[in-house]
Amino acid sequence: MSVIPSLQVIREDIQALSAYAVQDAQGFIKLDAMENPYVLEPALRQALGERLSQVHVNRYPGTRVQDLKRALIAHAQVPSGMELMLGNGSDELIGLLDLACAKPGACVLAPEPGFVMYAMSAKLLGLKYVGVDLQEDFELDLPAMQQAIEQHRPAIVYLAYPNNPSANLWSPSDIEAIIAQVSTYQGVVVMDEAYQPFSSDTWLHRMREDPQKNAQVLLMRTLSKFGLAGARLGYLVGAREWIQTLEKVRPPYNVSVLNAECALFALEHEAVFKAQAEHIVAERTRLGHALSQELGLTVYTSSANMLLMRLQPQVWAAVAALPPSDPELLHKLAAHVFKGLKDHGVLIKNVSTMHPLLSGCLRVTVGTHSENNALLAALQALLHTTLVP
Ligand SMILES: Cc1ncc(COP(=O)(O)O)c(C=O)c1O
Repeated sequence: MSVIPSLQVIREDIQALSAYAVQDAQGFIKLDAMENPYVLEPALRQALGERLSQVHVNRYPGTRVQDLKRALIAHAQVPSGMELMLGNGSDELIGLLDLACAKPGACVLAPEPGFVMYAMSAKLLGLKYVGVDLQEDFELDLPAMQQAIEQHRPAIVYLAYPNNPSANLWSPSDIEAIIAQVSTYQGVVVMDEAYQPFSSDTWLHRMREDPQKNAQVLLMRTLSKFGLAGARLGYLVGAREWIQTLEKVRPPYNVSVLNAECALFALEHEAVFKAQAEHIVAERTRLGHALSQELGLTVYTSSANMLLMRLQPQVWAAVAALPPSDPELLHKLAAHVFKGLKDHGVLIKNVSTMHPLLSGCLRVTVGTHSENNALLAALQALLHTTLVP
């Protein structure tokens, strides 16, 4: 007879949560998670293998992690007076910052739709979470943000620059206004630059030029989109006082010797990854153009390695054989196209039900030239072959 254990010691709110779902991508063209699509060329893979074979996995991480910190400080050109803290991906850094700020009644605020971990981490760590809707064009709604900040006085405001899933950069003057407001009561604004390798702007310039105005700002980045999603490496940059205090909540060995060596190797070959990012940006333009011109999709301007697109009912309702008056039309269309792409071997992300502003939206990662062609061909096939007379 099997024994059913009791979980009553686990918090009820955690028992009620759903775990973060990762789609099974086996055998698919994987355009769902904003990874870098390129694998390293054989000579580099061999060299990396040799480097990793020298690593002493019997020892706790030590000086190589310090070497990595120095390499990242040089790579990111961290301004003097600022320090850098390492995380096991930026997901961990979000959790550590939330943990450090989890005073009774503390609150986290972020624009929505946005990166789901801001809300999830806050809830896990017992902080109140406030989401503020973006405008219909995915710009910040500054008056709504200011009103919510005034009302809740969040300890932390997360701003993804560019945002996920809308992929856009928000107006710098709106962000400056938010930073000024949050600074008046000594809260902190996290500029999350996960997509920095594909972006035309970085907040680090402003932090360097005006450290005073940005004293309550932390910059968060990751090597995931750069090309090391599997190695889990994120970093947080800010004034020495911030980083030295946040170091107190970091588990001592959160970055493994293998992650650190892999990241050091990648930074030594930075030019290879930079060239890949340039290809991705060029492909983003080509793919975006084809999706809108050839497939009648509304494609939003992107500064990241993803494109958010909305299905047009005039074009796609007939394809899915749905009446245009169906109240659930947009969600059904998104589910239909998502499933159709899967049947053609292409995995993307259906974000239609994530937030009301995303009804009828799908998010695709920009892949290699041939992967993007496969996506376009699959959409073309859906447009033509499933048409019901
Ligand atoms: C805005 C944003 N921040 C952070 C992350 C997480 O990055 P990491 O892989 O470093 O945990 C993501 C991942 O998709 C993201 O979209």
